[in-house]
Amino acid sequence: MSESKARDGTREFDLLVIGITGVAGRVVAEHLVAASAGFAARTGRPPAQAFAGRSVERMRSVRERCMRRSPAAQEPELIELDLNDEPAVANAVRRATVVISTVGPYSRYGSPVVAACAAAGTHYLDLTGELPWVRLMIREHQEEAERSGACLVPCCGFDSVPSDLGVMLARDEFRTRHELAPAAIRLVMGAADGGFSGGTVASLLTVIETARGSSETRTVLADPDSLLPESVFGSGARPPARNGTRSVISRPRFDRSLGAWTVPFFMALINERVVRRSNALSGFPLGQDPDYREVLAFGPGIGGAVRAAAAAVGTALFGALLMFSPTRRLLAATVLPGPGKGPSQAERGEGSFRLNIHAFPPAEQPNSAPLTAEVSSNRDPGYGATAIMIGEAALLLVERLERGETLPAGFQTPACAGGQELIDRLTIAGVRFKY
Ligand SMILES: NC(=O)c1ccc[n+]([C@@H]2O[C@H](COP(=O)([O-])OP(=O)(O)OC[C@H]3O[C@@H](n4cnc5c(N)ncnc54)[C@H](OP(=O)(O)O)[C@@H]3O)[C@@H](O)[C@H]2O)c1
Repeated sequence: MSESKARDGTREFDLLVIGITGVAGRVVAEHLVAASAGFAARTGRPPAQAFAGRSVERMRSVRERCMRRSPAAQEPELIELDLNDEPAVANAVRRATVVISTVGPYSRYGSPVVAACAAAGTHYLDLTGELPWVRLMIREHQEEAERSGACLVPCCGFDSVPSDLGVMLARDEFRTRHELAPAAIRLVMGAADGGFSGGTVASLLTVIETARGSSETRTVLADPDSLLPESVFGSGARPPARNGTRSVISRPRFDRSLGAWTVPFFMALINERVVRRSNALSGFPLGQDPDYREVLAFGPGIGGAVRAAAAAVGTALFGALLMFSPTRRLLAATVLPGPGKGPSQAERGEGSFRLNIHAFPPAEQPNSAPLTAEVSSNRDPGYGATAIMIGEAALLLVERLERGETLPAGFQTPACAGGQELIDRLTIAGVRFKY
């Protein structure tokens, strides 16, 4: 672990947030300004925050809204910044200790921010779910981030915080109760109420487009260990994984651990890889090839099989419509939200989600009872709850530095960067973890 360059005493801002005029960014900004009172109570001073984006006028209107909701907070400074201007990006991230970027699709806009943070030793968090881009960033910037001490944490929203921290919680509590690791873990997605924004749809389409044109990307998407640190197995020595999602096609499968017919949860594609990376970065507490899946469960028997098959057909149909340009254009013009559009405040206010994480004992330990953890919120998953997740994760990094701790350098996961303290913070802030 190297001491980060962000400790060089030159940083004006604890936190710089890029992208606050977007659908997700607006909610993140509101949460951060509101959460500054809690930060001040814990540290004895308000956080110095700044917002950056292309239009100062649009940012000013977001900032006014934040200040109306939290009038006692310190007003964030505004910095004009276009991510296409790489020298300006480098200058901006050198002014901050921690950067949040909510500018996506990340494969289109995000790389200069990661490169600049890795070089400057600035700690970084984002909301990406774009697996090929995350892998590319790790390949290109891991070594430099290790040298500069930057702690880089992609996937700090609904993908993949509930999965990553929820698995950590279930794994650790299972070990406390039974003094052994669970043999299998299943995340079962429950009810969720929320919506998508144009930025999320654009990011999903970017992954689909890239996969269509690149067999290498398709390999990355199908490989359950595509986010594993290369250093773990050395060059070419990686054992084949048996227990990951090996197909990007959603097929019904009878899951013996759950005793139910299932189909993969569509966010498993990124979440399972993040969980497997956490497992590797933590020294393989779940073994080298963890049996972890994220699913929608439809119950046993013929009824379960039929419902699972119907869900798989629906998902495949939607995927097929998105794959072909004419139908994709039709969907974009009719049902999918456009750029800058997303669920309204009222729709977000009615949102919620709940998911369960089941940890199962090995077959030879039938007396060890399975354990179930739950992650839930009465905020919509993609925006209200996501803003809490990335906002609290960022503030925690600032506070840990304030306490004199050294953050882990290089690409981390939410669980490795935040640990149990992040679970506790999120539970207080409205994203509840329990078992
Ligand atoms: N993980 C999760 O759970 C989760 C949840 C929500 C969103 N997301 C992801 O977050 C990303 C953003 O989504 P969104 O719906 O908020 O998108 P959006 O509404 O389209 O907002 C995009 C933001 O990026 C800014 N931007 C675009 N190009 C820029 C540039 N060259 N320089 C500086 N800023 C630029 C825009 O600023 P202007 O005002 O100047 O256009 C806007 O603030 C997407 O990748 C999405 O998938 C993830």
